Amino acid sequence: MDKQWVKIAKVVDIDSATPYLAELNGRAIALYRTHNVVYATDDTCSHAEASLCDGEYFEYTVTCPRHGGQFDIRTGVAVKMPAVSPIAVFPTLVEDGNVYLSPNDM
Ligand code: FES
Repeated sequence: MDKQWVKIAKVVDIDSATPYLAELNGRAIALYRTHNVVYATDDTCSHAEASLCDGEYFEYTVTCPRHGGQFDIRTGVAVKMPAVSPIAVFPTLVEDGNVYLSPNDM
């Protein structure tokens, strides 16, 4: 079966410091743009369920607004306490200035 892709944002809408909140199949997704590559993670922090889109990111690190935990947006790995569990990351497809995610990866 071919992989299905769903358009969820425009690249130009993704700020370079504040994650962009998107949604696919009812799941909140955070989008980031670092060095013109778009990354996607779950929006919900694995520590106490804050929205990472209320926080900020720099390069490949997003900081949770609630307790300051940090994650690597490329891998989802928690890199600063109190966050210890990883968050999910999703492959992105960028075409003609649009960002696509696949429900097959959810
Ligand atoms: S809710 Fe994100 S670090 Fe606590």
